[in-house]
Amino acid sequence: MQSLADIVKPEIDRVEDVAIREALLQSYEKSAPTLKSIQESLREILETVWPEDSLCLFFKNWRNPAVGAGSFCALTCRLLEAALGERLPSRQQQLFMSAARLAEVSYEDMGLMGKNHGELYEEMATNFCGHDNWRLDRYRLEEATQYLTACREYRERGGDLVEALMISLAEELYNHGEFTFVAPLFKKFHDASHAAGSGSRQENMRFVLEHIGGTESGHFSYMVEGLELYCEASGQPVDATRLARRNCEFLQGMDSMFRHLLEEMRGSAQAGKDVSRLQSDTPVSAL
Ligand SMILES: [Fe+2]
Ligand SMILES: [Fe+2]
Repeated sequence: MQSLADIVKPEIDRVEDVAIREALLQSYEKSAPTLKSIQESLREILETVWPEDSLCLFFKNWRNPAVGAGSFCALTCRLLEAALGERLPSRQQQLFMSAARLAEVSYEDMGLMGKNHGELYEEMATNFCGHDNWRLDRYRLEEATQYLTACREYRERGGDLVEALMISLAEELYNHGEFTFVAPLFKKFHDASHAAGSGSRQENMRFVLEHIGGTESGHFSYMVEGLELYCEASGQPVDATRLARRNCEFLQGMDSMFRHLLEEMRGSAQAGKDVSRLQSDTPVSAL
């Protein structure tokens, strides 16, 4: 099974700007222990048969596509605002193009290419849980999602647009890695799930399947372009060291989220039913 670092490397290799490419490669290399920890958490989450409450905790906190996409659209609006306020035509053009690239990151999420991802996530969570109790506020773990909430808020209102773009670039690159990593695990998780809906595996986990292939990797390349255009327009080179730092921080934020989430899922399971790990004799790649 490919590691997160193996999955993102070809996408990073496609980045033309040497400084950006090296910064991203090095930050993934430097984050090896963090990535290992994320992978271990994801494997335990998706290789365990969880009782209902733990599953609800997972789906309430793992992702929130509608809210996430809204913050990307907010950043697009902020770039458009910057473009409208720019007097120099060449710079204005670059700012408009930067906003256009940002908008492309949200096409699938907002439903321009099919069902929007908020709906797909809700369907998937309900299919896996067997009901929609996962939506209840009592499953919300504010502390686990603190870092992602801060990223989203920064995209919407943070003072420095370069910072907002760098955080978002790190997120899109990571997303490509995570969705590709979890897709085979989810297939096994689905087949072992007691409650998975009556539809086919393909239908039940459509949210995950829609994010693999070129979807998130495409978003990552739009983010690189969006950042480069904004920096050019504002007369500053892309600070590769800063980008590498933001990337490492993002991975740490995700690691902290999954460790926290897993701990709560375990705690909830221990308070209720026993849990069992899925048989590891079936290679996930064969599913
Ligand atoms: Fe999405
Ligand atoms: Fe994305």
